[in-house]
Amino acid sequence: MERLVELEKMTFEDSSDEVTLRPSVWDDYIGQEKIKKNLQVFIQACKKREEVLDHILLFGPPGLGKTTLSHIIANQMESNMKVTAAPTIEKGGDLAAILTNLEEGDILFIDEIHRLTPAIEEILYPAMEDFRLDIIIGSGPAAQTVQIDLPKFTLIGATTRAGMLSNPLRDRFGMHFRLNFYNDSELSKIVSIAAVKLNKEAQKDASFEIARRSRGTPRVALRLLKRVRDFADVEDENTIELHRCKYALDELGINDKGFDEMDLKLLELLLSNKGKPMGLSTMAAALSEDEGTIEEAIEPYLLANGYIQRTARGRIATVKSYELFRLTPPVNNESISLFEMGDVE
Ligand SMILES: Nc1ncnc2c1ncn2[C@@H]1O[C@H](COP(=O)(O)OP(=O)(O)OP(=O)(O)O)[C@@H](O)[C@H]1O
Ligand SMILES: [Mg+2]
Repeated sequence: MERLVELEKMTFEDSSDEVTLRPSVWDDYIGQEKIKKNLQVFIQACKKREEVLDHILLFGPPGLGKTTLSHIIANQMESNMKVTAAPTIEKGGDLAAILTNLEEGDILFIDEIHRLTPAIEEILYPAMEDFRLDIIIGSGPAAQTVQIDLPKFTLIGATTRAGMLSNPLRDRFGMHFRLNFYNDSELSKIVSIAAVKLNKEAQKDASFEIARRSRGTPRVALRLLKRVRDFADVEDENTIELHRCKYALDELGINDKGFDEMDLKLLELLLSNKGKPMGLSTMAAALSEDEGTIEEAIEPYLLANGYIQRTARGRIATVKSYELFRLTPPVNNESISLFEMGDVE
């Protein structure tokens, strides 16, 4: 079975297909209602006052719409957006060049913002706070700080790992938004809209079927839709129907809970531990995966849906996982007591 969650991005450019299907207006950006409502108010207020928007931090698991949301914000503000990613900003000069090239009201989007080095963060602080660049010329006692005024800009930082952000950096963002996983009805709307863009019509039950298997994630839903479309194209079908959908997704080995191979491996690992919590480093070694990937890309979905729990001593499979695999939960499973207290789900 193919890996659905892109864990290691080789490039920070999004694929061309993703750009075609990416909504550019609020109406096509489905779900995340609270975030949308708040942002709409802030944007309207800023435009009224003719001010620049406060800096925004967007965080949440991969594929939930952080980059998409940033583009919509820039559209709404009628601003230019300059896009970069933290790992490409290696030296102070790289950031200085980006900042001095901004124009008043521009939006600077920094992806993977948790990966900025401390030295780069230091340069960013005065830029965010006072729109000022402090450049140190020379070294030792003769060193001098030169200050350059920057145009007023909005920084949008996106990260899958908000916990790795330093406190001073986090505090300099005026707005923090956590993106949540999507429910099936939201995802099925996303699938229907995207199907039209792909010159197909998706029947309601078909788009729901795709939604159900998409791990709560629009990027996964769109990827599955494109695969299903291939099957429909081969059969010369203009409408995406449920039976074709089921056939295609089964052929592709997509689990009907939307789990991918890594989710299943992780669950099997925890289930094999027979009710005892397992530490992150042990899991990483057993799965040949790095700890960050497990924490940022695999676990959030399983946690949000109550399949696993984090305890002080490690991760544990919940009763829901045992039931899913038709296993009897061990009597000493630490999650059972929590389950009985209604803490699971
Ligand atoms: N709310 C939404 N409504 C409709 N489509 C969406 C929504 N959110 C995301 N998408 C679609 O899913 C794709 C992936 O979203 P996006 O690239 O914005 O995710 P991301 O959070 O930036 O992921 P990463 O952390 O990997 O950078 C987009 O191309 C877009 O088409
Ligand atoms: Mg992104």
